[in-house]
Amino acid sequence: MLGLKLPTDPRWVNIVEKNIEDILTDHAFCEQKATSTAISLIVSFPEYTELVQEMIALVKEEISHFKMVHDKIIERGWTLGRDRRDDYVIQLLKFFPKGGSRTTQLVHRLLYAALIEARSCERFRLLSEELKEKELADFYRNLMVSEANHYTMFLGFARKYGNKKEVDTKWQQLLDYEAKIMSQLGNKETIHG
Ligand SMILES: [Fe+2]
Ligand SMILES: [Fe+2]
Repeated sequence: MLGLKLPTDPRWVNIVEKNIEDILTDHAFCEQKATSTAISLIVSFPEYTELVQEMIALVKEEISHFKMVHDKIIERGWTLGRDRRDDYVIQLLKFFPKGGSRTTQLVHRLLYAALIEARSCERFRLLSEELKEKELADFYRNLMVSEANHYTMFLGFARKYGNKKEVDTKWQQLLDYEAKIMSQLGNKETIHG
């Protein structure tokens, strides 16, 4: 599914189930970061008109996801907590060397975004299948579909703006690297933990 090379151990859901407040807080900030990433791509690459148009749409969608998660937190009588560091993303963003042409930098950022969407999608799918609470499982099923579309969009833009063959090679290398990171994770009540 989604090209990912290492599926998440379903036991991760058992950890999540004991900490719904923590997972919702972490998830809310994932949606906030997805919004911020879309804005940042507009700021860094304004001349890519089609990308800018899609990022405007994405900002709206991701911030609406943030609200959906925030509403869930409020419904349960909780208050949004503070953001925590996302070790997965920190590790992931070390893969490509810094610098290079603008196109290269754009491709790297698009591939990172595609992968984070793909892994989030995989985690949401697992939550939608394994969570005992039906209402929350349904919530994650809906979001899973959105993130799958985002994954496809980011990968599509990388292939369109970069050299397709080079992009495909880099994508495979990034997937291998990500699988190594994931082999150390799956043990925390966060979306990527
Ligand atoms: Fe989202
Ligand atoms: Fe997304």
